[in-house]
Amino acid sequence: MISDNDFHQLTSLIRERIGIHIPPGKKTLLAARLSERMRTLGLSSYADYHRHVLSDPAGELSRMTDAICTNETRFFRDSEQFSYIESAAIPAWIKGAPRRIRVWSAGCSTGEEAFSIAMLLLSKVPVERGFAIEVLGTDISGAALEKARAARWPSHRVQDVPDALRQRYLTSVPDSTELEASRELRNVVRFQKQNLWDWYYPVTGRFDLVFCRNVLIYFDADTRAGVVRRLVERLTPNGLLLLGMSESLLAVPAGGLGLEERAQPHTATPLRAVGPAIYARDKRYVPPRPSRPSLGGSSSAAKPRAPWER
Ligand SMILES: C[S@@+](CC[C@H](N)C(=O)[O-])C[C@H]1O[C@@H](n2cnc3c(N)ncnc32)[C@H](O)[C@@H]1O
Repeated sequence: MISDNDFHQLTSLIRERIGIHIPPGKKTLLAARLSERMRTLGLSSYADYHRHVLSDPAGELSRMTDAICTNETRFFRDSEQFSYIESAAIPAWIKGAPRRIRVWSAGCSTGEEAFSIAMLLLSKVPVERGFAIEVLGTDISGAALEKARAARWPSHRVQDVPDALRQRYLTSVPDSTELEASRELRNVVRFQKQNLWDWYYPVTGRFDLVFCRNVLIYFDADTRAGVVRRLVERLTPNGLLLLGMSESLLAVPAGGLGLEERAQPHTATPLRAVGPAIYARDKRYVPPRPSRPSLGGSSSAAKPRAPWER
């Protein structure tokens, strides 16, 4: 059992150091997740664990992050969004001159989302005509990223991959029931650690499509608005932002997107809904220079800091 005081101390620490908001309704869940770490460390109270995190922030903060994040994901999750990409987005992208098509899976967990879109793109984008494909997966959890980089799954985990894609891009691991990503598939996907709460995103260039599905739930309303704004700034004109099916932009409070006041006068709303939890960036929207904390995005109680400030 975790006391109200310990819960408050730990959730304040988590909010201030990594930006994750844990509401009172998640008290039992947090207690269970942290008690595993405490057992491993031989600590008998949450107060001791709090002290331990404070005294060893570099190592324990990231282990605590791994412990509190829920990494549930699967291949081709919410298939109606992938159908939209296949039937509407990819045909539009490949109508133009050959170029690099770039996708960012932000909050990619163990990588299934990134590999799903990579398989779809590899099967539909005519690389022989000069197109190239690049998929970036980022997550705050080092443990999840380690699994993503391994790119190996037990056979039951790949059930949702359409047969044709499975046969083409996943290969059997000798002497095992596991499958792994083919070299062709691995070559277009890369992973890197990134906390979406940070105001500085160390990713270069613009993306045709950004997934940020089932991640906004980790943030309070202000932080959610800031994250959405920073992701929109990384989209190409007409680029697509995909949210989780229960995380429509309505989840962001009215006016809280933080975009309107800085958008061009003729583009009051830089995002428009085009599909199931899919939003397109208005091509007339001119994003401002990269956001800084003072421009909003996180509450003043715990301003996000750049990595070098911690
Ligand atoms: C439920 S999973 C969703 C995975 C995938 N996007 C999907 O929808 O299947 C949520 C992921 O968000 C990650 N996450 C939580 N807070 C984050 C943050 N501040 N920055 C980046 N990733 C975060 C977690 O580690 C977890 O892997």
